[in-house]
Amino acid sequence: MGTLNGKVALVTGAAAGIGRSSARLFAREGAQVVVADIDADGGAETVRLISDAGGEASFVRADVSSRDDVADMVRAAVDKYGALDCAHNNAGIAGGGYPLAEFHDEDWDRAIGIMLTGVYQCMKHEIPVMLERGGGAIVNTASGAGLIGFPGQAAYVASKHGVIGLTKVAALDYGARGIRVNAVCPGTVRTPMVDTAVSNDPALAAHLVSLHPIGRIGKPDEVAEAVVWLCTDASSFVLGAALPVDGGYVLP
Ligand SMILES: NC(=O)c1ccc[n+]([C@@H]2O[C@H](COP(=O)([O-])OP(=O)(O)OC[C@H]3O[C@@H](n4cnc5c(N)ncnc54)[C@H](O)[C@@H]3O)[C@@H](O)[C@H]2O)c1
Repeated sequence: MGTLNGKVALVTGAAAGIGRSSARLFAREGAQVVVADIDADGGAETVRLISDAGGEASFVRADVSSRDDVADMVRAAVDKYGALDCAHNNAGIAGGGYPLAEFHDEDWDRAIGIMLTGVYQCMKHEIPVMLERGGGAIVNTASGAGLIGFPGQAAYVASKHGVIGLTKVAALDYGARGIRVNAVCPGTVRTPMVDTAVSNDPALAAHLVSLHPIGRIGKPDEVAEAVVWLCTDASSFVLGAALPVDGGYVLP
């Protein structure tokens, strides 16, 4: 018996990385899973992995920086499975790499559109549907970059700090009405996003490891386990938290 039997879970950015892992773990726990992403091929692969493991999932193509896509995505989840109980707002991109005064405005707009406004729009559409069912749980993917700064990463750091702020506001607005909203703050996790950066740079890979007191970088499932826990009754008194899942990255 899974901890989320009979529940419906929506994951954005579920075609790869952390989102794919959380989609798979939601399904392992018995939830019916809506796999949302701009990447239809990767999304189909996530659905296949879940189906092959005996779970239930379906793909919805959605760009979280589009209000219409987000509205359609939530509607599609309810049309398909009749409700929405859990949401992992996770889609994100890497970028930046130049000092603030040289930051490209188009990179700023894209990052904020996906990782801050996207999370806001997702919660805006998810919450009313959850209220209809009497409650739910939302987990937003922030980052260690939501807790500390990084040079050259104005948009990423601002969006992730903003996600933690939004998480706290949503938790205060809806905690007493049965919706628990929390955030996870991953350290460096071995996903396609990180693989792209380190694949030709062993020095960068070693540097990233050195930043984590636990002595290694993380695996997507290690973040996904925290996400799923935050959506189960096992975390019933956890509200508005920004939970580091980072091998001690933000400790020093
Ligand atoms: N990997 C890390 O080290 C790390 C660390 C901290 C935080 N995070 C955060 O975790 C989340 C997932 O990152 P990941 O490492 O799994 O990345 P990833 O690149 O492996 O996966 C991100 C997914 O998001 C999707 N996506 C991108 N833009 C989208 C959009 N506009 N609409 C819908 N889907 C979109 C991509 O297609 C992809 O499937 C991101 O929010 C990221 O900022 C990652």
